[in-house]
Amino acid sequence: MKKGRVDALLGIVFGDEGKGKVVDVFTPRYDVVARFAGGPNAGHTIIFEGKKFVLRSIPSGIFAEDKINIIGNGCVIAPDLFMAEAKELENAGYDLKSRLHISKRAHLILPTHRVLDRAYEAAKGKNKVGTTGKGIGPTYSEKASRTGLRVGDILENFMEKYNALKARHEQILRDLNFTEYDITEEEKAWLEGIEYMSTFPLTDTEVEINKYLREGKSILAEGAQGTMLDIDHGTYPFVSSSNTTSGGVCTGLGIGPNVIKEVYGIFKAYSTRVGAGPFPVELFDETGNTLRRIGNEYGAVTGRDRRCGWVDLVALKYAIMINGVTQLIMMKSDVLDTFDTIKACVAYKKNGEILEDMPFETEGCEAVYKEIPGWKCDLTKMTSEEEFPQAFKDYIKFLEDELETPITILSVGPDRAQTIERIKA
Ligand code: IMP
Repeated sequence: MKKGRVDALLGIVFGDEGKGKVVDVFTPRYDVVARFAGGPNAGHTIIFEGKKFVLRSIPSGIFAEDKINIIGNGCVIAPDLFMAEAKELENAGYDLKSRLHISKRAHLILPTHRVLDRAYEAAKGKNKVGTTGKGIGPTYSEKASRTGLRVGDILENFMEKYNALKARHEQILRDLNFTEYDITEEEKAWLEGIEYMSTFPLTDTEVEINKYLREGKSILAEGAQGTMLDIDHGTYPFVSSSNTTSGGVCTGLGIGPNVIKEVYGIFKAYSTRVGAGPFPVELFDETGNTLRRIGNEYGAVTGRDRRCGWVDLVALKYAIMINGVTQLIMMKSDVLDTFDTIKACVAYKKNGEILEDMPFETEGCEAVYKEIPGWKCDLTKMTSEEEFPQAFKDYIKFLEDELETPITILSVGPDRAQTIERIKA
């Protein structure tokens, strides 16, 4: 009989919702924090006590000294980037080796996967996905083709397996006529990363997680990317290559669906997207630039400008449905502090037809907006719901009514302390 629980914390639009900050706030309530999908394409920025950290592969629970952190089987991991990220934390005084467990079943991103990522993007011409270039697509494709290398492979005949796979990649790259690359330095760091990773507990994390559940422990499943980047449910083919949605929690950690209790869906008070693909709420005007500037919307991994627009209720309703979201968390509300009016996309219009449900193809959809009065005051100093201006309370109520889901946490600034819980979890 399992007595523990898993709660999931998921970005429900295009990623970059600020999951890292919320996991960090949530961590004291859980025994374990686990990543179940994605890899170093993620960049979770956490700011506290004046220090800023960007986590890519390591779960955000790493800052709480007594928590176990798990990189689950659904993740992909680049040893060189992992080493750089982990060493930075070790240098800042965090002990990782006893608290960070890596699944033997997680797949390894090879340097040549990153070259393949670039080669496939180049071959796509105008239909580029705009990937992060971290080798995510080629690594997950390899997993599905059953030719990949897994973390557990480090433990036996590794160099033989690595060289065979690298040779296969080099052949593909020759076939693609993509020969202008040099991985010498990268490969050196990568192999050092393999050595370094082997000093961590490489375990059967699914067995471990289920043992924790039997012991009554609570686990937070930390999502990466967002629902609209999910390989099945996102804006395909402009998506990432994993299941970023709640179904991915089960496959990416090796747990049954019946142990998942709360599904927290995180979104921003406005919308952003990095990379290519349809984005009906995108603003190309001064308002879009203002959102980018005030919201500091530049990619944590690639530094690219994020595309900005108003909040998209069609996408949010769809994401709530796909994930079974039980509670919503609204981030960066303060970015809207100076606007006279705020807009929310309540439907799409395509070929003269009004669409309230997410269509198969959002390309060519135009946003239909409802305009709402702004609150025109500084939310960043507010520490409780009672202090909120009426216009902001009305905006929250409007969103809750439309989305039929409670917004239980609101973020009004980048610091851990600027997080207001309306209903204690
Ligand atoms: P990939 O995951 O690097 O293959 O990139 C596929 C698409 O997902 C691109 O549009 C990326 O910009 C986007 N993407 C991947 N990871 C993130 C993320 O953590 N936040 C936002 N967008 C992401």
